[in-house]
Amino acid sequence: MCGIVAYIGSKNATDILIEGLTRLEYRGYDSAGIAVIINNKIEVFRSVGKLLNLKNIISEKKPVSNIGIGHTRWATHGKPSYENAHPHSSFGISLVHNGIIENYLDIKRNLADKGYKFESETDTEVIAHLIHSNYKDDIFEAVKVSVKQIKGSFALAVISVNEPDKIILARHDSPLVIGISDGENFAASDIPALISYTNKFIFLEENDIAVLTKDSVTCFDFEGKKTDREIKIVDINPVMAEKAGYRHFMQKEIYEQPRAIIDTIRGKYSLEEGMVLLPELQNISIENFKRFNIVACGTSWHAGLIGKFYIEKYAKIPVEVDIASEYRYRDNIIDKNTLFIAISQSGETADTIAALRIAKKKGASILSICNVIGSTITRESDATFYTHAGPEIGVASTKAFTTQVVALFMLAIYFGQRKGDLSCEKVKEMLSELLKLPELIEHVLKLDEKIENIARNFKDFSSFLYLGRNVNYPVALEGALKLKEISYIHAEGYPAGEMKHGPIALIDKNMPVFVIATDSKVYDKVLANIQEVKARDGIVIATVTEGNNEVEKFTEFCIKLPEISEELSVFLNSIVVQLLAYHIAAELGLDVDQPRNLAKSVTVE
Ligand code: F6R
Repeated sequence: MCGIVAYIGSKNATDILIEGLTRLEYRGYDSAGIAVIINNKIEVFRSVGKLLNLKNIISEKKPVSNIGIGHTRWATHGKPSYENAHPHSSFGISLVHNGIIENYLDIKRNLADKGYKFESETDTEVIAHLIHSNYKDDIFEAVKVSVKQIKGSFALAVISVNEPDKIILARHDSPLVIGISDGENFAASDIPALISYTNKFIFLEENDIAVLTKDSVTCFDFEGKKTDREIKIVDINPVMAEKAGYRHFMQKEIYEQPRAIIDTIRGKYSLEEGMVLLPELQNISIENFKRFNIVACGTSWHAGLIGKFYIEKYAKIPVEVDIASEYRYRDNIIDKNTLFIAISQSGETADTIAALRIAKKKGASILSICNVIGSTITRESDATFYTHAGPEIGVASTKAFTTQVVALFMLAIYFGQRKGDLSCEKVKEMLSELLKLPELIEHVLKLDEKIENIARNFKDFSSFLYLGRNVNYPVALEGALKLKEISYIHAEGYPAGEMKHGPIALIDKNMPVFVIATDSKVYDKVLANIQEVKARDGIVIATVTEGNNEVEKFTEFCIKLPEISEELSVFLNSIVVQLLAYHIAAELGLDVDQPRNLAKSVTVE
């Protein structure tokens, strides 16, 4: 949600800001802008729409400077427009902001009484004027005073024309990372913006203010007391954040799943001993837990729903799965006997963070499953299982989802084993099957052309139903979410057995129904659901297990997947629903990687 980038050094800041914003565009893309200091003046360049529009302005004007800040916006206050685009300025001070200021109307009224004029509808412009109103001759002091007057969430990068040798950063409930290099320093909302320049990072903590010069980084708390912040080395291959010949990031990320799964389980098991090894969980004393509470949003919540099946089956611990935005306003029964599992690709989702903090306050232990090293959720957890999916740039989550599910499968075995419910023999068997998964996924990826053909047949329908049962029910939810978010086609996921309790009324010749009918203990029931759809002229697209010649009697759109246990069939079915959504959106000529109204990390409530 909104991307921030900042640079100070001896290179041309403009080039670095634009490159950083290109890498951050997935966080927001309704307008963009930069501010640089040239000849004792702050020059601001902004434009509405995709970053390309800003790039065209920059390549025409060619501004050169050694200091600057940049922003790509996902609108919260005020529609996407030139006036609302960041950076916002106030008499020689410019800033970019990610987050939401809750008391901005009160502050705005006070500032208006003092004579400040507002050009935009944003809460951010209010902060610019507030900092100016607090400015005497020290921009650090002015920011320090101002952050105590604002309520809400913010990551800020501020420059002042009077002090062109420094950038001031501040964070509260919004991520901000500093990149360190020789004779130059950087800041950004997210590491991918900076991976071409450095692998040394400082993750700012809650209520940190930092002063960046070209040769130094100094961190303080909001009271102005110096704080020690560790420099972390994070090696991400910059190529992982490129499209590498694929048409879209989403397509590349779908294809990366075999590798991502291998990386996620690497070093976490011993096949010979039949053991899952998770030393990162040593702080979590499993014996104390009577129940698990998994909390997440969107696709990560779907992963959590699958995790419930795994944990209840293999570890025999009751699991509740909650949507974070609901959880945070509910009277939760949670105590020290609860293990709270937060699942988040970004580690920065505001609702998930808020839910985690509630659980922590009530004494629960916190385990996170996360893809981003050093993110807020990982820092606030007692233990983290990192999914090494690599940077996920496509807004629609794919490889992050399957690696979260792998993590949950590993956790279920781990807890089952520690409780004594799973023998080493059984674990060996489960691990052996898991290790075959990357190859089986490669096999499913070879069905891409077939799925693309199916997509061509269905791209013009206006509604879809996705049906699945048991562990594949969350995959039906995920398939529907993937389709609606990138193709803008209405879709609903349903447990197949629930169809007769309502959704069956929707079925007619205009309603394609995607049915997950791979081998399972409820296969016969799902087959009956397919017949019910056919009897009402619905069109079925189905996944089945190789060797199944029954379902194709009811549909020509039958996708045969390799044989695998019901528990792990979720992975193969997930690849199919991802590819189907991808191809429908691509066939429609839509912006697959940056669908309208969405942003990659939802850092506001
Ligand atoms: C959908 C999608 C979102 C995210 C959700 C949670 O494709 O990506 O539904 O899953 O916003 O994000 P994280 O996992 O970063 O907490």
